[in-house]
Amino acid sequence: MFAVDAQRAIADLKTLAGFGRCGTGVHRRALTPEDVAARSWLEERMQAAGLDAAIDGIGNVIGAVPGRERYIIIASHTDTVPEGGWLDGAMGVIFGLEIARALVEAGTKTNIGVKVISFMDEEGRFAALLGSSVFCGVLSLEQAAALRADDGATLDQALQAAGYGGRPIARLDPARDRVCLEAHIEQGPVLERNDKRVGVVTDIAGLERARLVFFGQADHAGTVPMAMRRDAAAALFDFAEGFARFCRELDDPSVVWNLGHARLAPGAYNVVAREAELFVEYRAASAGALERIRGAVSELATEAAARHSVTHEHRPGVRIVPAAMDKSLVDRLEAAAKKRAAPAMRMSSGAIHDAMSLAARIPTGMLFAPSIGGRSHDVAEDTREEDLALGVEVLGEMVASLIEDGSGPGLA
Ligand code: HGY
Ligand code: MN
Ligand code: MN
Repeated sequence: MFAVDAQRAIADLKTLAGFGRCGTGVHRRALTPEDVAARSWLEERMQAAGLDAAIDGIGNVIGAVPGRERYIIIASHTDTVPEGGWLDGAMGVIFGLEIARALVEAGTKTNIGVKVISFMDEEGRFAALLGSSVFCGVLSLEQAAALRADDGATLDQALQAAGYGGRPIARLDPARDRVCLEAHIEQGPVLERNDKRVGVVTDIAGLERARLVFFGQADHAGTVPMAMRRDAAAALFDFAEGFARFCRELDDPSVVWNLGHARLAPGAYNVVAREAELFVEYRAASAGALERIRGAVSELATEAAARHSVTHEHRPGVRIVPAAMDKSLVDRLEAAAKKRAAPAMRMSSGAIHDAMSLAARIPTGMLFAPSIGGRSHDVAEDTREEDLALGVEVLGEMVASLIEDGSGPGLA
C-alpha cells in the first residue's frame, strides 16, 4: 500500500536533534526559543510532505493527509526534559511524519488518512501532557493560561512570545479521529534484557506529584541546642525517610517514586535551614495504590512537621490516572511485528505518554523501540539505527493493515 523510508526518517530525527543540541543529547524545554524553532521546522517538513499542517493556539503541531474522512492519529512530543535525549518523543513524531509522507507519495485513494501531532509540553515545563490534555478537552485554555514554569514564566506569556497566543485551538473530533497510535523509546531495560526489538504496550502506569515546603527558623548552627531548633531541613529528611519506607512496604512492583528536587534556604553549612522544599513524584499501575500513597504523603508531611516544630505547605500537583491500551490494537500491533519478523513482547509502560490523554477518548495503542542500556532522560539516551528502522516499519505495517481493511477499532 505504501513503503516507509526508514533512512529518511532517521535523517529527519538527526536534523531535529540539532534544535537545542546538548552534547550527545538535546535540551529543548517546551516553548523555549529552540522548541519554537523545532516546531516551525516540523511544520515546514509536514507541508513539504504534502500535509495540511499548522501550529495551533497551544503550540501543538498538527499535519494531516489532506481530504480524508477519517484519521489515524500518530502522535508524541518534541519537547524534552532538561539535558535529555534525542529520541524521547521525537521518535514517535518523526515516525508519524514518515508514515504520512509515504502515504501521500503512494497516492492511495482511501477514506482513511494519517494525522501527525507533536503535542506541546509532554514533559511538564508547565504541566505534564499539556498539549494532549488541551487537544482532548480535559484542560481548557483558560485553565492552562495561568500555569507557571519553575522560572516564573506563565504559559500565557510563553505562548504570546512564541507567536501562538490567540490562534485557534485544534480539538480531537472522535467522529473523524478514530484511532491513536504512539511510538516511543522504551526508556528502560526490559526489551534489551529479553532480546526483543519491539514492545507492544498493554497499559501505562499513573502518576501523581506534590510539592512540599517546610518552614522553620534560621538559627546559628553551632549555638542553638538541637532540641530547640525549628529545622526545616530535618523535617524534609524525616519525611523522605518515612515516604520511602511506606512505598517499599506496599510491596507492589509497579510502585516507583522519585524525590527529584530539593531546595534548602538559605543554604549554608552554619545556618539551620529556614525553608526546605521537596518535589515528590510517585507512579503505580493501579488507581488504588496511587490513592494510598497520596494519603501517606499528607500524613507523613504533617507528622514530620510536628516532630520538628515547623509548619508546612502541601501543594498537590498533577494527577494522571493509569491507562489501558485498546486490546484489539494490542493484537494488531503484535501481528504487524510478526509480519515484519520483529521479535516482540507485551509490556507495561512505567513512563507516562500523551497516548494516555487519547486513550480515555478513542482506541489507542503504543509501540516501544529498545533503549540502549535502558538509558533515557539523559544525554546518553540512544537506540540502535536498526531498531529505529524496524520500529517505523512495524508501525507503518500496522497503519497499512488498519487502512486496508478499514475495520480496525473505530475505523469502520
Ligand atoms: O515523565 C515521564 O514519564 C515522561 O517521560 N514524560
Ligand atoms: Mn520523557
Ligand atoms: Mn516521552
